[in-house]
Amino acid sequence: MLDTVLSDVPSEGVRTLTINRPSRRNALDLATYTALREALVAADHDPSVRAIVLAGAAGCFTSGNDIVDFQNATLDEESPGILFLRALTHLTKPLIAAVEGFAVGIGTTMLLHCDLVYAARGASFRLPFVPLGLCPEGASSYLLPRLAGAKQAAALLFFGEPFTAEAAREYGLVNDVTEDGEALPRAVKQAAKLARLPAEAVRTTKALLRRADAAVVQEAIGVEGERFAALRLSPEAQAAFAAFLARS
Ligand code: COA
Repeated sequence: MLDTVLSDVPSEGVRTLTINRPSRRNALDLATYTALREALVAADHDPSVRAIVLAGAAGCFTSGNDIVDFQNATLDEESPGILFLRALTHLTKPLIAAVEGFAVGIGTTMLLHCDLVYAARGASFRLPFVPLGLCPEGASSYLLPRLAGAKQAAALLFFGEPFTAEAAREYGLVNDVTEDGEALPRAVKQAAKLARLPAEAVRTTKALLRRADAAVVQEAIGVEGERFAALRLSPEAQAAFAAFLARS
């Protein structure tokens, strides 16, 4: 079976994790959430790793949660998606995202928990929760207004329209926009730079940057998760999932 998460060491002290379900545009199904969470935690615990890079295979970051699982899987505190989000927020080492192609749904909200984000010019971001009959997740209802401003966050979350890498940079979601194909090399370069800095100072700085919001982020993930789980079962949401999967 295809490994849905690939692991690589492109430079000393750097671990790259690549979401690898290209036939589904790297959609995160239950098994991939679990594989990604385990790979992130393993990298965080591995003393040889000083910085982690997250990318998607075949020129696509991720199309977000697998829509088939939205139709079928139960969603609660023990769900692989929620466990993944909680693990993401508990990482102690720097996490750097390299975004090429699509970053949809949790593909965008997970960036709120990355320390640095580099996106290719052609990358496309989208938070289509409301059009799908859902609501924000991943603490995005708390973090996005703080980054992008309340009005911009409301527009992005209500309308769920795609936005460009340049817009994502303006909203504070992205550090820098690269040429297409250059997001990963750039992320690895920055990770290698971090790997050469004093490790304890880097970790302490990350912990301090996250400290003030840590409790409210955990609370938001829980509350959003409950609302999301209820909406997922609504006729509107189920019709939207079926419509996506029935496209020809
Ligand atoms: N879940 C399940 N399957 C998905 C998927 C997802 N999130 N995203 C893509 N796929 C599947 C498609 O159904 C298609 O399957 P098929 O080859 O059997 O028809 C295949 O992956 C390729 O997707 P396609 O839509 O043809 O690719 P594209 O390059 O034209 O568009 C996206 C890419 C990401 C814009 C589009 O696939 C999309 O909008 N996906 C859904 C994103 C979404 O709503 N995620 C949930 C967020 S809450």
